[in-house]
This record gives sequence, C-alpha cells and structure tokens, in this order.
Amino acid sequence: MKVAVTGANGLLGQAVVEAARGAHQVYPLTRAGADITQFSQVHGVLTKLRPEVIIHTAAIRDLDLCETDPARAFLVNFHGTRHVVEAAREIGAQVAHISTDAVFDGKKSSPYSESDPTNPPTVYGRVKLRAERSVQTLPRYWTFRISILFGPGKVNLVEDALRKVGAGQDVLAPADQTANATYAPDAAQKIIEVIESGRHGLYHLSNQGACSRWELVRRGVELAGLDAARVKAVSLAEMGRPAARLHYAVMEMKALASAGIALPRPWPEALAEYVEKLMGRK
Ligand SMILES: NC(=O)c1ccc[n+]([C@@H]2O[C@H](COP(=O)([O-])OP(=O)(O)OC[C@H]3O[C@@H](n4cnc5c(N)ncnc54)[C@H](OP(=O)(O)O)[C@@H]3O)[C@@H](O)[C@H]2O)c1
Repeated sequence: MKVAVTGANGLLGQAVVEAARGAHQVYPLTRAGADITQFSQVHGVLTKLRPEVIIHTAAIRDLDLCETDPARAFLVNFHGTRHVVEAAREIGAQVAHISTDAVFDGKKSSPYSESDPTNPPTVYGRVKLRAERSVQTLPRYWTFRISILFGPGKVNLVEDALRKVGAGQDVLAPADQTANATYAPDAAQKIIEVIESGRHGLYHLSNQGACSRWELVRRGVELAGLDAARVKAVSLAEMGRPAARLHYAVMEMKALASAGIALPRPWPEALAEYVEKLMGRK
C-alpha cells in the first residue's frame, strides 16, 4: 500500500515509518514539506502522492502549551487534522488518526473502554476530540487513542530521567496519575497490523498494564542500573501545571480484543527492551 505519515519526525511518527517500511511504500511527511496548518500544502502533497492510507500523527502534544495558547492548539490539532481529512476525502484515502486518553475526564476508577463517554477537562483533550470527530466523518477511518508515549528517536520522559539521574540529579514525577504507557515501536507495529486487517474504527492502544509516570520512570532508572531513589514521587498538585492532568486515565483495549488482534506486551517488558537499547546493551 502507499502510506503517507504526517509528523514523521515525531516520536510516534518515526516508529510508524519504520514499522510500515518493510511491507509498504512509505511517504514520511514533515512540517517542512507539509505544514498541516496550511491546507494548500497538505492538499498539494497528498493529491500528488495519492496515498491509500494517511497515518496522521502530527500534532502539538504538549498539554500546557495547548492550555496557554488555545488558538494555536485549535489551529494545529483541529484544523490541521481537518485539512488532512478534506484532502483524504478528495483522493479517497483512508485516515488513521492518533488521539489520546486525554479525551476522558479521569473520574472513573475502572478502565475506560472505547464506548465510554468522553468529557475532556483540557484544551488539548477538547481539541483532539474535535479532531477525532472530523476524521470520523470519513467513510473509512481509524482512531487510535494512545497514552504516555516513550521510545527511541526523540527525548521522552524515560530518556530524560535516565540522563538526569545519570548526571547525579533528582527527577520529580507524579505518582497520583495512573494511566497506560505506550512504547512507540509496539504501538506503530499494532497500528500497521490493524490497518492491514482492514478493520476500521476506534481503538484504544497502549502496552498492557497500568502505571503512574513515577512508576514508569523509576522502573526505567532501575533497569538502567542507576539510583532509583533519585526519582522522587510528587503529587499532580505539587507539579502546578497549567493544564489539568487526569488522576485516572487507564484504557481498556476492548476493540483490539474483539477484532481478534493480540494486545501489545505488558509495559515493563517493552520498557526493559527500550532501556537495553538506550544503554547500548542491545
Ligand atoms: N506523547 C504522548 O505521550 C502522547 C500521548 C497521547 C497521545 N499522543 C498523540 O500522539 C501523536 C504523536 O505524538 P508524539 O509524542 O509522537 O509527538 P511529537 O514527537 O511531538 O511529534 C509530533 C510531530 O508533529 C509535527 N508537527 C507539529 N506541528 C505541525 C504542523 N503544523 N505541520 C506538520 N507537522 C507538525 C512535529 O513536527 P516538528 O518536529 O517540526 O515540531 C512533530 O514531528 C500526537 O497526535 C499526540 O497528540 C501523544
């Protein structure tokens, strides 16, 4: 298949390009060649390439930036997506959009399934939800809601913690924010598998098992053989961030299971592989 990937320099975008490369003709798109806020650019590139599938990972993923600059969040994360959708509609392409657990309100105490109501308390969550709805106007689409992303190719919370602790610094991480962790290469491989299956729709996608950011980072530091005591647990309130964070955002992967698709491995296994890579041991 001809597959275009937006946000191809991003953490997930790089992994998606890598995962699709073997079996598909891949067109990595970056801001330099296709700024999604410019419809003429997006339209020009996509009508020229005519991909059958567009995997749309490009977005502003910083919740605090979105909260403090809602106009920019709306422009990139909603209008940018709408531009991809309108170009896709014209060329008959299917779109796989990457969304987020931030579409929920975090008030549940059991995992959110794909059929649970959304109610995002943040600008980021509200804008990503509008983007989901825009994609869902297409006859053939996928929405993949992912969560805390880590993996090679771009500095993320795990790599950042390893660097800091390695340099003798402390790292603060919230312990009262329970969610799922998503290893970018695992998610990318699953996205390609679902696309190849031709089973469209809405999917929750992460590694299995819940954790807080503190647990994730602490385990990573431990696996690297560094001083895990340097990873200090703090509360969300102490972090004092502009955008509200969800105390509970665990997602259940019901749609993957009912499609008969194997769930990604548990997060500690994926993290162990990643840390081995970071430490140059693999
Ligand atoms: N990271 C997480 O924990 C997380 C959690 C849940 C959902 N998600 C979602 O997953 C997706 C991928 O996230 P990520 O962590 O891979 O993000 P990322 O590393 O920040 O990558 C996003 C990419 O989008 C590109 N981009 C931003 N604005 C653009 C524009 N106007 N035109 C074209 N490209 C633009 C960026 O390009 P530049 O490199 O030029 O800036 C970047 O390469 C996003 O949709 C995000 O909302 C992420």
